[in-house]
Amino acid sequence: MLKKTLAGLAAGALLLTAAACGGGDDDGGGDADGLVVGFAQVGAESAWRTANSDSVQSAADADDRIAELKFVDAQQEQEKQIEAIRNFITQKVDVIVLAPVVETGWTEVLGEAEQAGIPVILADRGIEAADEDLYVTRIGSDFVEEGRKAGTWVTEEFAGNDNTRILQLEGTVGAAPANDRNAGFFEVLDDAGFPYELVDSQSGNFTAEEGKAVMETFISTHGLDDIDLLYAHNDEMGLGAIQAIEEAGYEPGVDIQIIIVDGSKAGFQAGVDGKLNYIVECNPAFGEQLMDLAVQVADGEDVEKFTPVEEAAFTADQFEAELPNRQF
Ligand code: AHR
Repeated sequence: MLKKTLAGLAAGALLLTAAACGGGDDDGGGDADGLVVGFAQVGAESAWRTANSDSVQSAADADDRIAELKFVDAQQEQEKQIEAIRNFITQKVDVIVLAPVVETGWTEVLGEAEQAGIPVILADRGIEAADEDLYVTRIGSDFVEEGRKAGTWVTEEFAGNDNTRILQLEGTVGAAPANDRNAGFFEVLDDAGFPYELVDSQSGNFTAEEGKAVMETFISTHGLDDIDLLYAHNDEMGLGAIQAIEEAGYEPGVDIQIIIVDGSKAGFQAGVDGKLNYIVECNPAFGEQLMDLAVQVADGEDVEKFTPVEEAAFTADQFEAELPNRQF
């Protein structure tokens, strides 16, 4: 990804500082015309993820302060992200951006980045609290809050029910959005004293194929006649589950109510078609904010430890009006 003219003297001063702190021409890393940023992305498991990669890559491309974005698709494997980070360190990039597949197992490699003097920004997902000194800042969603929105809708929608029977399709085992969407959801139900039964909860790894396969297992194990709700941690798993429900002869959105998280065009279209009932938005479009953070961090500026992105949630009566606004 080649660049660009220098955007002015102020930017020049900033970049010289950054080159001195991180990579830079003298030590074989960054370009004197801008920062070199290494981005270890999760993969391409969902429309959300593709939109997030597009947002980051196009923001880097349009930003004169960024000389190059080294992009690695880790195919949902932590080992590939660790290898990418080690390569970024060898290449002496100025800033490392990591969207961690899972929350644990980062101490050693992020310690190596720290030893090399390369600041790390977390994009999207977080890591365990014990390692919070090993990154400078995180930008992304408040996944616990997303789970709380889903839980709040359930307490209102099923108010008065004696016992709401729930199936949950979890995201990737150990991933922050899987852990936090689960935690926020059940926190609200439990705090409200809401009567429910979690009939089953399995990971569909954030993909449509695995979401469909897990839903087929749910149906063959429990049937659907006594199930009230499916809570799917992302659109793809929810859409896969809808296929399984239809193939089993049931009407998704009617025989079983469905919540999804993300809010893709395909998710909203399924909502407009009456196949699901509540959508919690997860916003992938933070590329420009991420570039600002990369420049600030490379320049040694103080930044907030966490920058949440703006997100909403949508009920069935809002799906049709919102569909044309969806960006991914
Ligand atoms: O980390 C964000 C989650 O990852 C999105 O909800 C999901 O679609 C993606 O795989």
